[in-house]
Amino acid sequence: MCGIVGVVGSRNATDILMQGLEKLEYRGYDSAGIFVTTEAGRSKLVKSVGRIADLREKIGIDVAGTAGIGHTRWATHGKPSEDNAHPHTSTSGRFVLVHNGVIENFVELREEYLANDTFKGQTDTEIAIHLIAKFAEEEGLDTLAAFKKALGLIKGSYAFALMDIKNPDVIYVAKNKSPLLIGLGDGYNMVCSDAMAMIRETSEFMEIHDKELVILTKDSVTVTDYAGNVIERPSYTAELDLSDIGKGTYPFYMLKEIDEQPTVMRKLISTYADENGAMKVDAEIVKAVQEADRIYIIAAGTSYNAGFGAKIMLEALTNTPVELGVASEWGYGMPLLSKKPFFIFLSQSGETADSRQVLVKVNELGLPSLTVTNVPGSTLSREATYTMLIGAGPEIAVASTKAYTGQIATLAFLAKAVGEADGKEEAKEFELVKELSLVAQSIEATLSEKEKIAQIVKENLLTTRNAFYIGRKQDYFVAMEASLKLKEISYVQCEGFAAGELKHGTISLIEKDTPVLALISNNPEVAAHTRGNVMETVARGSSAIVIVEQGQEREGDDIIVNAVHPYLSAISMVIPTQLIAYETSMQRGLDVDKPRNLAKAVTVE
Ligand code: F6R
Repeated sequence: MCGIVGVVGSRNATDILMQGLEKLEYRGYDSAGIFVTTEAGRSKLVKSVGRIADLREKIGIDVAGTAGIGHTRWATHGKPSEDNAHPHTSTSGRFVLVHNGVIENFVELREEYLANDTFKGQTDTEIAIHLIAKFAEEEGLDTLAAFKKALGLIKGSYAFALMDIKNPDVIYVAKNKSPLLIGLGDGYNMVCSDAMAMIRETSEFMEIHDKELVILTKDSVTVTDYAGNVIERPSYTAELDLSDIGKGTYPFYMLKEIDEQPTVMRKLISTYADENGAMKVDAEIVKAVQEADRIYIIAAGTSYNAGFGAKIMLEALTNTPVELGVASEWGYGMPLLSKKPFFIFLSQSGETADSRQVLVKVNELGLPSLTVTNVPGSTLSREATYTMLIGAGPEIAVASTKAYTGQIATLAFLAKAVGEADGKEEAKEFELVKELSLVAQSIEATLSEKEKIAQIVKENLLTTRNAFYIGRKQDYFVAMEASLKLKEISYVQCEGFAAGELKHGTISLIEKDTPVLALISNNPEVAAHTRGNVMETVARGSSAIVIVEQGQEREGDDIIVNAVHPYLSAISMVIPTQLIAYETSMQRGLDVDKPRNLAKAVTVE
């Protein structure tokens, strides 16, 4: 988490840093700061608790420079405060540093090297800047050597951008495990946590790999390893569209992204199927999955829920068992694996540290892997054997919506392609292109029910402290995602529950007016049973809201979702729950796009 931006060589350094930080705010928004300097060596450091808008107010118009670094923070060590906000400075004020990541051995480093130093705050980052200053000012090393020496001691994850006011036209950069990218401009160069935050300035980028150092000046970019060997790294042009990252006329990104889902489905059709409906999935990926005796899906949060949303379909079409793993748990060690495992990493950002630590282990074991991600060139994409892109366009709201549905749809193409290659009738008969088009239409129909959903929220969810989503089979998996969405942006404590399991204990939490939201897709095998479970909660005073798929509707049901193929119902059934979460947060007057305590890309373990 945390976002870093740096620029050298532009007259508008302040403006570029602030624009960049605004785009990076999704990575953390509890405090922020910038440091800018002129070629003549005049410099200014401004920090603020709160959002980038608060920082902007503090900066006013008289902070200008030609180089600088900026940071938006998601607190890991030390509460949000100006002292803990980045950039951090050395005691002498000579060195200035921004950091994304966690220095795991900062306590040991402080005790061993900095026992006599006084620190302004509690962050791990301050240890790094004091170390660099110590090596430069006490041992007489030049800045690069001091930086390298500190890097040699630091354990953990980091993306660093360092400035030395004695040499204000240089930014020193290093990374390990945390994302960082160079942006190349004409007469200036940049460094940033992600490409989207730089596209106003450039579309030409250069990757930085772990344990590499970059020395950035206005007209040169030198990449080396920590031993000083120069690495030739070609740049690439990214096809990013500035208009993708605007909110347009929407009050919140989340609503825009919910509305984009029919387009995402149609775009996926053109990406992964030809005009005759034949699959266009990389043959090597298909072969690798065919060879597997078990598919392991590793992910976190919403992406984990998306894995469940695709599980039934993947197993039915590929005839291969699918096991789900919470990335943060699997990082501690693999369970007993099958003989021929195939790993799928689901990650909107492609940067989630929990998922990455599993991928590192998978790579050490020499096992094949696929990353399904929305971000081309992201760490998980680069490090997995294969990549399939969702192509949903930037997802900026912290609460993930179109990436969830896009991930399930992408896996549908993979499942059908593998099933067909295996000669499975079920896969051949599954008309994915037609079915996904129907999903797009179903989503559109639900999106036209916004007013009705707003009213349901007003009547049932405005003041409640807790709620339940219940469902069976695929609906249970959707209930997991629906409850996560409601929790994270509206702060309603909500559990996604297997409908039949409620009566085994948790039903004791149901009291008068507890909202119970039931998901009933068009599956006669389970629909009647879920209805029975709804009635059990109603008998105990719940206020039940039934979201039902066409084919199972009854009088009095609250939201009816147009029917789709059962393999894809996780996509269409989740849409009303996204709108419910959105409306609940909005009607409660909360910041829908930036819920408290969260960040969009979770790059710490
Ligand atoms: C919730 C949400 C998170 C992410 C999770 C994994 O709305 O967005 O739960 O799904 O942090 O992130 P990615 O998919 O980027 O790996």
